[in-house]
Amino acid sequence: MPQPGRVIIDEAELKARIVELGNDLARDLAQERPILVGVLQGAFLFMADLIRATSIELTTDFIGVVSYAGGTSSGQVRIVSDLSVSIEGRHVVIVEDIVDTGLTLTYLKRTLEARHPRSLRVCVLVDKIERRKVDVAVDYVGFVIPNVFVVGYGFDYEGLYRNLPYVAALEGG
Ligand code: IMP
Ligand code: MG
Repeated sequence: MPQPGRVIIDEAELKARIVELGNDLARDLAQERPILVGVLQGAFLFMADLIRATSIELTTDFIGVVSYAGGTSSGQVRIVSDLSVSIEGRHVVIVEDIVDTGLTLTYLKRTLEARHPRSLRVCVLVDKIERRKVDVAVDYVGFVIPNVFVVGYGFDYEGLYRNLPYVAALEGG
């Protein structure tokens, strides 16, 4: 059974970088009253910390997608829980845990763009740039990490380990 091993991003690093991302969003969207769209389930911890670091008027919503079957990207993305409000004419920020192959984000951007937001930005906690299969523009990136499978702080392996307060490599098995 694989287990969380080496720490890749510790709690203090997460906290400090998320404060910076929150400031970036506040600077760019101060007058826009954006809607931050968290991508479930992975981004829910990041979303909670990010909005508390963004000191402007904003609203939140969530979209649930499944893109992974047991660890590796299937390339198939499906909405399992849709937004609860219209984003037409709104300034939207997708808040995602990770951009890996880029397939999920490409799908999400295309899907939300079709609903005619006023603007659409993307904020990801982690970028695994080495694994990219499709080019996708990301506006705000927390950390670039090497090609390791990570768990903790929202990241899961078969649903487990999301509750770790840091990001660790999944090891063994
Ligand atoms: P992509 O479509 O390949 O970019 O993958 C995006 C999704 O895969 C993310 O939203 C995560 O849910 C999942 N994912 C990718 N890499 C990891 C990882 O290292 N740990 C946990 N989940 C991951
Ligand atoms: Mg995800």
